[in-house]
Amino acid sequence: MNDSPNDSTAGSLAGTFAERLIAWQAEHGRHDLPWQNTRDAYRIWLSEIMLQQTQVATVIPYYARFLERFPDVAALASAAQDDVMALWSGLGYYSRARNLHRCAQVVVAEHGGRFPADPEALASLPGIGRSTAAAIAAFAYDAHAAILDGNVKRVLARVFGIEGFPGAPKIERDMWTLAESLLPQRDLPAYTQGMMDLGATLCGRGKPRCGECPFDSDCIAHATGRERTLPTSRPKKAQPERYVDVLVIYAGERVLFERRPDSGIWGGLWSLPELTPPTDARDADDTSLRARLSAHAATLGAGEGRVRSLEPLHGLTHVFTHFRLHLRPWRVMLESASPSNGARHAWLDAAGVAAAGLPSPIRKIADALSIGSLSDGQLSLPT
Ligand code: ADE
Repeated sequence: MNDSPNDSTAGSLAGTFAERLIAWQAEHGRHDLPWQNTRDAYRIWLSEIMLQQTQVATVIPYYARFLERFPDVAALASAAQDDVMALWSGLGYYSRARNLHRCAQVVVAEHGGRFPADPEALASLPGIGRSTAAAIAAFAYDAHAAILDGNVKRVLARVFGIEGFPGAPKIERDMWTLAESLLPQRDLPAYTQGMMDLGATLCGRGKPRCGECPFDSDCIAHATGRERTLPTSRPKKAQPERYVDVLVIYAGERVLFERRPDSGIWGGLWSLPELTPPTDARDADDTSLRARLSAHAATLGAGEGRVRSLEPLHGLTHVFTHFRLHLRPWRVMLESASPSNGARHAWLDAAGVAAAGLPSPIRKIADALSIGSLSDGQLSLPT
């Protein structure tokens, strides 16, 4: 057996977990919610469905109105769907209400109006997943079944120091195994409620109140300062990549800048001219790209003159919230310069560049080339 410190801590913690949770729940947990202190599976089921995506405080008045109108599963099963939807109106996630109605009809038609006690049978009913089935079975029938909702995943990830996004299939499978291994032999309702209460109160998403927690210093996240980073967040979606070729067009000591349109990125700022439309690919065909770049530079800046040289510089990447922009600068030397073309273009000297409002990656390009300081500049840009 592996007897590393973490394993032995986790081992002893697992051995006392349920006991400590149940003791904490008795003293500090919630005991007077409207769906507690009943063994009526209908009432428990209704609360669990309403609580799936909705906070306790929001659910309470809906729960009361619902039970008044539909006091048992038979009343709900025989209701008109419109009446069910009307009572649900405002709770959101309306597929829950449609499934609720269907579930009531199945319980009446196939189970004699009694919710089954077996978690697997419950989980086969409309709108009841594995965790909800376990909650209903534990609360109504003392079933030996583990819940694993978002709150419970957070508690387990922190107490047992589980890295990895809990929505990932492998992590979720491991968490189900752990959740089942932690179940006590008795007091399943108190244990299940304790899991929910701990996750909803002390071990919340925001600021965990570790000082009051029954697991306190045995909690691996707390002991290793990872309360804020566990559970691991959902991996970020890959950002779209965009490529843009920008021209650093020199005529003597001055460089041609272009004012960006008011809308869109960097609206209204001075920037370097871009090749449009963008090539949108890393490996653009070099020859035709160079021809386009030269033609564009000549159109913008050379008037009747010629492009003397065109040379690629090191690129840089700028990260926006929704995409990554790869800038590919090209240094273009002109034989002669045309006069500035209206309000959109300006030949700026070092002082002009230093004073202009430039987007930060364009400023980086200017700095790397020492455009603002009238020196020769360097050809190398940070990648
Ligand atoms: N969230 C889900 N089920 C719950 C319950 N039975 N009590 C409080 N919050 C819950």
